[in-house]
Amino acid sequence: MAQYNLLLLPGDGIGPEVMGQVERIIAWLNKQGGNTFTTETDLVGGCAYDAHGQAISDATIDKALAADAVILGAVGGPKWDGIGYDVRPEAGLLRLRKDLQLFANLRPAVCFDALADASSLKRELVEGLDIMIVRELTGGVYFGEPRGITDLGNGQRRGVNTQVYDTFEIERVARVAFDLARKRGNRVTSVEKRNVMESGLLWNEDVTALHSRDYSDVTLDHMLADNCGMQLVRTPKQFDVLVTDNLFGDMLSDVAAMLTGSLGMLPSASLGEADRDGKRKALYEPVHGSAPDIAGQGLANPIATILSFGMALRYSFDMGAQADMIDQAIENVLTSGKRTADIMQDGMTAVSTTEMGDAILSELDALTS
Ligand code: IPM
Ligand code: MG
Repeated sequence: MAQYNLLLLPGDGIGPEVMGQVERIIAWLNKQGGNTFTTETDLVGGCAYDAHGQAISDATIDKALAADAVILGAVGGPKWDGIGYDVRPEAGLLRLRKDLQLFANLRPAVCFDALADASSLKRELVEGLDIMIVRELTGGVYFGEPRGITDLGNGQRRGVNTQVYDTFEIERVARVAFDLARKRGNRVTSVEKRNVMESGLLWNEDVTALHSRDYSDVTLDHMLADNCGMQLVRTPKQFDVLVTDNLFGDMLSDVAAMLTGSLGMLPSASLGEADRDGKRKALYEPVHGSAPDIAGQGLANPIATILSFGMALRYSFDMGAQADMIDQAIENVLTSGKRTADIMQDGMTAVSTTEMGDAILSELDALTS
């Protein structure tokens, strides 16, 4: 049996509340007699800025580099709206992604049966939906230079960001997508804007070349990003694995998330390159943000963060059976009609963040008894 070390970074807004429920799941797992987890908790985002003027400290980055996996809640809020990009809450998250070289962001959009009617689309369009979005996470316009706002001296200012991709960045994230597709529906859709952007053309050509070199057994399609947004809300089930750049991936994953009923349901995994022992640096976080409007009221849905921990079990610790059990427990709780506010429907029972945690834990007990 192994012991793993997790760094918990609850962050801002609802982050600490949803992380609180993950800690209960970890404590439950530790009693099951398999692998165990030790945890350490630290600051990221606005709370880190308040504590030491930086959205993440060097010491926290060192802990993240040393941990077996990082679990993050959410960062940001209106309180920090006025401060510079280099110290904003989001900068803490971006630095974590960059310093840990987490270039592949996996965002599964899976529709739980019990929630098919909570989607803004018709049940038949989303029932059984299972898409995996692979978003490039350490390049593109999020990090490209030059960037900034300059004063043109004539009463005008200019805002600049740079979309830039090198072949190795495109290839390594495409490999992750092709490898995942082989374990699923064996189809990849590569998404860019080659009709207007050179970086999109390069993306398209590099993915195509890699496909014919190493992955010709996988079905590959290409789609323009705007069309992809439209197709996602028209016939979402046409997709298996989507691979796309940092910015398009940010947008398309929010769209895909909403198909499943609520942003409060979607987990993500951010992975680095495998080392010689096959171990990857990894960070797991919900796709939703810090939701400052409902923070501290016990209204937040902890499921996305719990599912993110489930992805950690799957991708970092080879504990797929335990991850399946967590998925099953959540499915059972939803089927029983318990709902946090974001997924509330007529005739269902409204529960708080902690009550949702209670319900998932008692399902876990039931599944193991
Ligand atoms: C996400 C978020 C982040 C992003 C923000 C908080 C920096 O929207 O993870 O999707 O844009 O990547
Ligand atoms: Mg986003």
